[in-house]
Amino acid sequence: MSSFPGVAAYFAASLLVCPVAWVLADTPYFRAATGDDEAYNAGAYGDKPNQTYHSSDLRSPRFLINAWRPEAMSNESHIFISPSVSKQHRSPMIFSAKDLSLVYADPNWGGGSNPTPQIFNGTKYLTIWTGTDMKGWGTGGGLILDESYNMLYNITTNGLPTGADNHEFQLTHDGGAMLNNYHTKTYNVTSVGGPEDGRIQDCAFQEIDVVTGEVRFEWHATDHFELTESFGDAYQDRENGWDWFHMNSIFKTLDGNYLISSRHLRTLALINGTDGSRIWQVGGKHNMFEDLSDGKATDFAYQHHARFVDESYTVGDSSAEITFYNNQVMHPTSHSPGCKMDCSRGMRIALDFDAMKVRLVREFYHPRSVQAWAQGGYHSLPNGNALIGWGTVPAVTEFTLNGEVAMDIQFGPWSDAWDGLATSYRVFKSNFKAQPPWPPSIAAFDSIIYVSWNGATEVVSWAVSGGDDPLTLQGITQVEKKGFETAIPPPSNASYFRVDALNSAGNVLASTDVVELATGTKLAGKRLPKYF
Ligand SMILES: *[C@@H]1O[C@H](CO)[C@@H](O)[C@H](O)[C@H]1NC(C)=O
Ligand SMILES: *[C@@H]1O[C@H](CO)[C@@H](O)[C@H](O)[C@H]1NC(C)=O
Ligand SMILES: *[C@@H]1O[C@H](CO)[C@@H](O)[C@H](O)[C@H]1NC(C)=O
Ligand SMILES: *[C@@H]1O[C@H](CO)[C@@H](O)[C@H](O)[C@H]1NC(C)=O
Ligand SMILES: *[C@@H]1O[C@H](CO)[C@@H](O)[C@H](O)[C@H]1NC(C)=O
Ligand SMILES: *[C@@H]1O[C@H](CO)[C@@H](O)[C@H](O)[C@H]1NC(C)=O
Ligand SMILES: *[C@@H]1O[C@H](CO)[C@@H](O)[C@H](O)[C@H]1NC(C)=O
Repeated sequence: MSSFPGVAAYFAASLLVCPVAWVLADTPYFRAATGDDEAYNAGAYGDKPNQTYHSSDLRSPRFLINAWRPEAMSNESHIFISPSVSKQHRSPMIFSAKDLSLVYADPNWGGGSNPTPQIFNGTKYLTIWTGTDMKGWGTGGGLILDESYNMLYNITTNGLPTGADNHEFQLTHDGGAMLNNYHTKTYNVTSVGGPEDGRIQDCAFQEIDVVTGEVRFEWHATDHFELTESFGDAYQDRENGWDWFHMNSIFKTLDGNYLISSRHLRTLALINGTDGSRIWQVGGKHNMFEDLSDGKATDFAYQHHARFVDESYTVGDSSAEITFYNNQVMHPTSHSPGCKMDCSRGMRIALDFDAMKVRLVREFYHPRSVQAWAQGGYHSLPNGNALIGWGTVPAVTEFTLNGEVAMDIQFGPWSDAWDGLATSYRVFKSNFKAQPPWPPSIAAFDSIIYVSWNGATEVVSWAVSGGDDPLTLQGITQVEKKGFETAIPPPSNASYFRVDALNSAGNVLASTDVVELATGTKLAGKRLPKYF
């Protein structure tokens, strides 16, 4: 039985063993099943429907749930996304995959694209990109955070004019980090109708050793591809240079080569990790594969997020499957929803390296047909499901491998605007555990106690203590944690309250400050002995 904050969860409260009234503080989500979708999509709740909390300054999106079929979903615990949220810096955000309640956000990181757990040195860490988004490219660093959200590494490019771009931050199997880079270069652009001293935005990538920060491999698109291969906009002299290549994903294979995606060349290519040459490419002007699917395996365009389904692919294998998000257009040409042609979709293709043939295995269109001109990703989940983040269309859909919709949600209304709406770059789903070093947060407002703990994944209930002397609080009751913020009507007439976070074994993980119910004043630094 699914329970969204404030809907089914409210009724579930009556099943609690504790005698105390308990209310969920999170604002209820909207559901197409109960007819909320029209108003939501008409913008009745804003361009970026959002909710605020009492015990936290964070804002988070108010989702619209179009489809929710837990029995068809993969079972990973959390969803990772960096949506733009009203009046808040873009941030990595983590939501419960079970009820979509907020679990973690920290706008202080800034940027936040590509939030996802990755393995480094045998351990799973939260990784994010932070930095300055220059609209279309960025300069910053890739961060590796431990299970307490402490930054272990901040990895950026070395010896290039700008830092790590926001399109990719992939940790390799062997202790490296793949970073994209965009920088301006004076270049002979006569081949595309420009001057001999034109300006281009070249795409480079570096593999950086995470521990030492040293460059293991560096590659520049201009050394291996021709400007005439670009399908991007015609050459124009722009301040940052003509964006002819637009690389947006890199993956290092076990044998040391690199699968890259060039949006503006409409190509996926395997780059030789020794000399930087193309080993093979699918799509684009020099496509090497015969298309067994009437062109539908190779006519993708402006695509994102290319990954091998089986990450153990090496050169010499006779076949491989690749997943990616095919935007299909560079500029909007069709409406979302109700796209009629050139609609965006997730794609899974199979390459046969003996016969040099390619076949479309699966494609996943949005249930309402959308066209997203930029961003987006395809996360292939362990059970084979496809999690598609639609990029500039503010939706996320999980499909089973045979194309059924397991989940379809929105974090903003449909819009044909090309800018200014809610977007997300890539969306991931993964198991995740964390316990922050900061304590849970308490607030009292209108004689209700509110409690939340940003970033904590292991809390199952809250133990409430109260008293008239803040130094001698007595344990009163326990209430179940549901959603990001729990609202607790005072369980006694006490003046002061404190709440302890309990895990599934009933152990106290951390305690809030003491709050005075009448005034909301917090007695910081006077945390008291546990009542156990
Ligand atoms: C954020 O939410 C508030 C309250 O629902 C709403 O009035 C506002 O329009 C939203 N902001 C945006 C940018 O949508
Ligand atoms: C990698 O893991 C090993 C074994 O747990 C540990 O001893 C070593 O310090 C780790 N190295 C880094 C760079 O974290
Ligand atoms: C990461 O390093 C870059 C420079 O290398 C710096 O500009 C940035 O502030 C650092 N980020 C954090 C979160 O420390
Ligand atoms: C620029 O490239 C063109 C070919 O497109 C070539 O003919 C010309 O000599 C080049 N100019 C310079 C200065 O290298
Ligand atoms: C990669 O380049 C090296 C050096 O040129 C070459 O020896 C090797 O055969 C190439 N690998 C592939 C798979 O083409
Ligand atoms: C989750 O699904 C995977 C298959 O994708 C399965 O191996 C695993 O046992 C499942 N875990 C749980 C907790 O159900
Ligand atoms: C609070 O005080 C009122 C009036 O004295 C009493 O009726 C009520 O039962 C008390 N509530 C609790 C939870 O102790």
